Amino acid sequence: MLMAKIALIVGSVRRDRQGIKVARWMEDKLKGRNHTVYFIDPIEINLPLLDRMYKEMTKPAETLISLHEKIKSAEGYMPITPEYNHSTSAAMKNTLDYFLEEYYFKPSAIVSYSPGGFGGINAAQQMRLIFAELGAPSIPSSFPISRVHEVFDNNGKLIDERYEMRVKRFIEEFEWFIEALKNQRETKGTPY
Ligand SMILES: Cc1cc2nc3c(=O)[nH]c(=O)nc-3n(C[C@H](O)[C@H](O)[C@H](O)COP(=O)(O)O)c2cc1C
Repeated sequence: MLMAKIALIVGSVRRDRQGIKVARWMEDKLKGRNHTVYFIDPIEINLPLLDRMYKEMTKPAETLISLHEKIKSAEGYMPITPEYNHSTSAAMKNTLDYFLEEYYFKPSAIVSYSPGGFGGINAAQQMRLIFAELGAPSIPSSFPISRVHEVFDNNGKLIDERYEMRVKRFIEEFEWFIEALKNQRETKGTPY
């Protein structure tokens, strides 16, 4: 069974954010399949709006060095994005933009959510474009969660059991791509 290092990136820094419930639940699911999860929460890191990218910094702060290590050593990325005005959040974009080459030739699996019926699919589509540019193409499936307030209770416990089956298939697909690209990186290296 594949044991991978996965960077899970929280997209909301709002007080009372719904996204933290999704993120903690996904973390639990990934750990349940023996993956190492780097839980990246912009609130904990307190990232300023981007001035210099990591590679341009002469004296990066400890928090950024640690973040860099996680992004670089991760073998796959799982952004948990809210939808704000049909796109991802400023916090998500800001966190991602600090790095570039660190992501190359590793897959991403997009999770989105919203209070309405569309599960943040507009944001998820935007994330595909962003991760394509970052060199971490997204797997075919995404994981939109509609009516997120009804899917989890206030303590973050899953109420809607249908998500158990969906998440299993989603993570299995992600694992397939993580393993495929990992094998290719290890046997053939990367073109750049
Ligand atoms: C600035 C802003 C813009 C939003 N735009 C959308 C939107 O375009 N589509 C949507 O479905 N929900 C939209 N919403 C509702 C959010 O999806 C909802 O508040 C959700 O709980 C946000 O995730 P969070 O609680 O983790 O921050 C918006 C919310 C905010 C604060």
